[in-house]
Amino acid sequence: MERLPVSGPSITQKEIDYVTDAVTNAWYGNANIYHDRFEKAFADHLGVRFAICLPSCTAAIHLSLLALGVSAGDEVIIPDITWIASAAPITYVGATPVFADIDSKTWCLSVASFKECISPRTRAVIPVDLYGGMPDMDELIEVAQDHGIAVIEDAAEAIGSEYKGRRAGTFGDTGVFSFHGSKTLTTGEGGMLVTNSEDIYRQALFFRDHGRQPGDKLFWNTSVAYKYKMSSMQAALGLAQLERVEELISRKRQIFEWYAAELADAEWVTLNYETPDTKNSYWMVTAIINGNLGIDKESLMAKMEQGGVDCRPFFYPLSSLPAYENAEQAAKAREQNQVSYRISPYGINLPSGLNMTLEKVQYVAHLLKQEVEVHAHSAKLG
Ligand SMILES: Cc1ncc(COP(=O)(O)O)c(C=O)c1O
Repeated sequence: MERLPVSGPSITQKEIDYVTDAVTNAWYGNANIYHDRFEKAFADHLGVRFAICLPSCTAAIHLSLLALGVSAGDEVIIPDITWIASAAPITYVGATPVFADIDSKTWCLSVASFKECISPRTRAVIPVDLYGGMPDMDELIEVAQDHGIAVIEDAAEAIGSEYKGRRAGTFGDTGVFSFHGSKTLTTGEGGMLVTNSEDIYRQALFFRDHGRQPGDKLFWNTSVAYKYKMSSMQAALGLAQLERVEELISRKRQIFEWYAAELADAEWVTLNYETPDTKNSYWMVTAIINGNLGIDKESLMAKMEQGGVDCRPFFYPLSSLPAYENAEQAAKAREQNQVSYRISPYGINLPSGLNMTLEKVQYVAHLLKQEVEVHAHSAKLG
């Protein structure tokens, strides 16, 4: 069996044709045609008013915070379990990240913990749709509204997920997406900011264009700001992928179903959860191994690697990272976020790329069972 990477895209002739057209024709007066089409199609797909394509989701989070006016002295609540990209822009704008715990089933922000983290300085919350799962959005939005807290929904990993029939990315003041090469819909690198607020939209355009008001005269900047633009080749790739998005999402769900069936008899593993209210787009099929077996994720990944299978560790709690060692809120989080600290050591992402086949899933599941069961057996003997 060839080496199995943990993630990767599905690229067809459509993508090649669109990118070829962009690199051939999207210059001069046509320089923005693919941006315009991609943004319009993306907004229509989600049912939102505005979409801005960007070089990354990190940029989309940064712009969201800037457009919402979050700045020094403010606190922003985020789940402790996420990629650091969800949190880093909070520091860019001079605000303080506050790390809340996750829910033990969805692995997304726990609403109870979110409530406990609220202080008079809280300005925003960034719930993350982790691995395609979603938090309890109704409750979360209600708490945020009651406290006047802005919501930036980090749907970087969740294109295609839904909560009560509504698409991920549409619940906050802004929603943000990543099109990194590992994502279900990719532009190589890239991201999108979506919003229904014209004010936020205009602010984001201003901050991403070196502080020039949309439509103002050229080279006329009223603030020192940022340059966040996607290339037309990326936008063309994104448009082609978006036109195939239902196929890509179905494929992700199929890959998860295959794993679920192959691992159905393994009582020591918990896979991604789909609540009755949600449709999970299963960006990364994730396996949490029962902690009682004492198999940590690093040693399991090393074993899988020897079998030619690349896995990724379940995110480490942000509050455990050296990057936040001295952050004022991290010490508290290390004590309080029990679910994050209980689950994280035993979780791995399994190969979930769009090139997975049933045969490959069977191989990964077989290898995982073999590794875990050998270990469990020797632990019992010991
Ligand atoms: C939850 C989450 N937020 C934000 C990001 C940042 O996305 P990007 O790499 O496009 O900046 C990622 C990317 O992997 C992510 O998984």
